[in-house]
Amino acid sequence: MNKLIVSLLLTVGISGIAHAAGDATAGQAKAAVCGACHGPDGNSMAPNFPKLAGQGERYLNKQLHDIKSGKRTVLEMTGLLTNLSDQDLADLSAYFASQKGSVGAADPKVVARGEELFRGGKLDQGMPSCTGCHSPNGSGNAAGGFPHLGGQHAQYTAKQLTDFREGNRVNDDAKIMQSVAAKLSNKDIEAVSSYIQGLH
Ligand code: HEC
Ligand code: HEC
Repeated sequence: MNKLIVSLLLTVGISGIAHAAGDATAGQAKAAVCGACHGPDGNSMAPNFPKLAGQGERYLNKQLHDIKSGKRTVLEMTGLLTNLSDQDLADLSAYFASQKGSVGAADPKVVARGEELFRGGKLDQGMPSCTGCHSPNGSGNAAGGFPHLGGQHAQYTAKQLTDFREGNRVNDDAKIMQSVAAKLSNKDIEAVSSYIQGLH
């Protein structure tokens, strides 16, 4: 993917969901059921449950719509969003976006390879670096809907990259992440996910 397309995506954004503005205070009141897995403030303790704290509001809202509609399969959340309105989803997104995300640590054994992939991509195979869309410190681009990655549990990140590669997660617009992940080996995924866990 070339620089022009990346900057175009950043400018226009990638998904056209029109949505009501979220209210973080209203969202907090609706988030009790989510806290059991994702942590009350969105910093989950379990490495297979993603941290939501500090994630971009637009990205969160898109995922919630995709999970609700079944476009993205999350078995653990089956039925949980069925009775929530667009406003509820927007409020939940605003609440978790307003929380401060915690950071973990990278495994020293793989951090160098992880950094190389994150910052340099695999240009010989046409895979761009991750920084263009997810930013050099992993904070993403909230307005464009590019998710914040820094500090996320390595186990969760590795599962997402594997799911994109194997076609088990297909809700990324224009197959952006499916085409990136197609170029990653299991070792690459382990290294870059570990690097991301310590990134901030
Ligand atoms: C029983 C545990 C559980 C509960 C309760 C739960 N989730 Fe989840 N959630 C998960 C798991 C597991 C995933 C990731 C699945 C995967 O590997 O793709 C997930 C993924 C997500 C994602 C996508 C995160 C990302 O970075 O892409 C969002 C957003 C989310 N949940 C929000 C919520 C909200 C809001 C609630 C409450 C209404 C909630 N969840 C309740 C387990 C749960
Ligand atoms: C051209 C832009 C672009 C590039 C380059 C890119 N990503 Fe992404 N990435 C995205 C977008 C957009 C999404 C959100 C997809 C969706 O809507 O579900 C995403 C989602 C993700 C997710 C899922 C986040 C979550 O919370 O579930 C991970 C992990 C990820 N990217 C890692 C990477 C890594 C690692 C690289 C580099 C090897 C990379 N990305 C390169 C645009 C990009």
